[in-house]
Amino acid sequence: MSKKTKLRVLILDDETDFTSELKEFLELRDFDVYTASTPGEGFESLRRRPYDLMILDIRLPGMSGLDILKQVRKLYPGMEVIIISGHGDMDTVIQAMRDGAIDYLRKPFRHIDIQLSIERTEKYLKLYREFCEVQNRNSLISTELERMIDRTFIGESPAICKVLDLANTAARYPSTNVLITGESGTGKEIVARIIHYASSQQHQAFCAVNSSAVNESLLESEFFGHVKGSFTGAINDKKGYFEIANKGTLFLDEIADMPFALQAKLLRAIEEKTIKKVGGSEEIQVDFRIIAATNHEVEKLIDSRQFRLDLYHRLNTLTIHIPPLRERPEDIEPLLQYFVSHFAQKLNKPLPKINAQLTESLKGYDFPGNVRELRNMVEKAMIFCNTQTLSPLDFNLNGSPQSQTHKPIILNLEEQEQNLILQALNECGYNQVMAARMLGISRDSLIRRMKKFNIRILKDQD
Ligand SMILES: Nc1ncnc2c1ncn2[C@@H]1O[C@H](COP(=O)(O)OP(=O)(O)OP(=O)(O)O)[C@@H](O)[C@H]1O
Ligand SMILES: [Mg+2]
Repeated sequence: MSKKTKLRVLILDDETDFTSELKEFLELRDFDVYTASTPGEGFESLRRRPYDLMILDIRLPGMSGLDILKQVRKLYPGMEVIIISGHGDMDTVIQAMRDGAIDYLRKPFRHIDIQLSIERTEKYLKLYREFCEVQNRNSLISTELERMIDRTFIGESPAICKVLDLANTAARYPSTNVLITGESGTGKEIVARIIHYASSQQHQAFCAVNSSAVNESLLESEFFGHVKGSFTGAINDKKGYFEIANKGTLFLDEIADMPFALQAKLLRAIEEKTIKKVGGSEEIQVDFRIIAATNHEVEKLIDSRQFRLDLYHRLNTLTIHIPPLRERPEDIEPLLQYFVSHFAQKLNKPLPKINAQLTESLKGYDFPGNVRELRNMVEKAMIFCNTQTLSPLDFNLNGSPQSQTHKPIILNLEEQEQNLILQALNECGYNQVMAARMLGISRDSLIRRMKKFNIRILKDQD
C-alpha cells in the first residue's frame, strides 16, 4: 500500500505559546504542522507551500479573521479552514461558517477536540479529492467506456483494404507514431481505435484529445497536468493527457489546430520522454504512442508556418490516408447494409429490404460528410420508414449530386441519361409526370427511356 501523505496544517494565531503547544501535539499525531503569528506571515506561508487545512484564530491584530477567511477561501479553495473563537463571538462564528469555514472551536478547548475536528476534516478532504479525481477522469472518457465504443470498420474497396493493412502494421509496432489523414467523417478516429485495440497496448489507456477543443488558457495544464495550488483554481493535483496516456496511446485529433507554442512543447515531451507538471519540479517519465489525425493538408500548413516541420516528421512515421467515400463507391453497398441492420436493431424495427435504385442513387451522391453523412442519412431514414423496403424516397438526396462537384465528368451519354432520369424521378418522388416535365420530355418518352434502362418503379414508391 502506498504511504499515507501527511495532512499539512497551518496554524495562524498570535498567541505563540498556544500555537507551539498545539503544533507539538499535532506533530505527535503525524500531521505536518507550520505556524504563523500574524496575517502577513500566514499569507507568506500559504504562498510558499500548499496546505490542506488552516486553523485560524478569528481575532488577530491588524486584520479581521473573517476577512482572512474570505480571502483564503477564494485563493485556496482546496484548503479547509477551522476557526478558533473566543467567548461572546457567536455572531462572528455564524458568519465564518457561512463564509465557508468547515468547523469552529471555542477557546479554551481540549487538544482532543481539535484532533477530532481535524480528523473529520481529513475524512471530508479525502472523499472530496476522490470525487475530484473521478471528475477529472470523466472529462476524458474512461477506459471501460472506451472499450464499448463500436470499432466496426466496413469497406471492400482496395483503398479500404490498404487502410486496414496499414492499421494492422501499426498495431504490430506500438511505439511507432501514426498520422491519419482524410476528409471529415471518413473514419479516422475509428482507425486510430482499431490500431490501439489491436496492439499489445490494448489494456492501457486510449486518451483522445481534440486539439482545437482544449481551452486555450488551460492548454498547458490540460496536457502536462498541474500541482495543487500552482494557480488559482488548481485545487488538486491533476494529471495531464501525457500522463494519462502513459504506456498507451495519445490520440491527437485535429492536430493542425494545435497552437504553435504547444507544438514545440509536445515535440520536447516526445523527444525527452519526460514532462513537468505546471507548478511542479518533479520530472515525470512518460512513454506513449501518438496517433494524430487531420483533415487538413499539413504540408500547406508547414509552408505557411502554422505547423512545425520537426513535429510533422515525428508524427508521420507511418501515414494512413483514408480516401473520401465518393472515390470508393463500391463501399456504399456494404456500408448501407451495415448501417441499416445496425439501426434496425437499435431502433427495434424489422429489417427492411434495400431497393437497387437506392444503392444506385447513393452511388451518384458525392457525400461531402463521407461515411458519417451516410450513417446519419440511414438513421433518419430508418426512423421515418414505415415500409418494408428502403428506397430513394426515404433519403433526402437533393443535396449536391456527385457530378457537380468532385467526381470527374463521365462523357458517356447513355450513363448520363440514365443518371438524369434516376435523379429526376428521385427528386419528384417517383411521380412520372413531374419527372418528365423536369427533364423537358413527354411522359411517354420518359416511360420509353425507363424501359430502355430497365428502371422500374416498385409498388411502395408510388
Ligand atoms: N468504414 C467505416 N465503417 C463503419 N463506420 C464508419 C466507417 N467510416 C466512418 N464510420 C462512421 O462514421 C462516423 C465518423 O467517423 P470518425 O469520427 O472516425 O471520422 P473522422 O474521420 O474522425 O471525422 P472528423 O474529421 O470529422 O473528426 C462514425 O460514426 C463512424 O462510426
Ligand atoms: Mg475525428
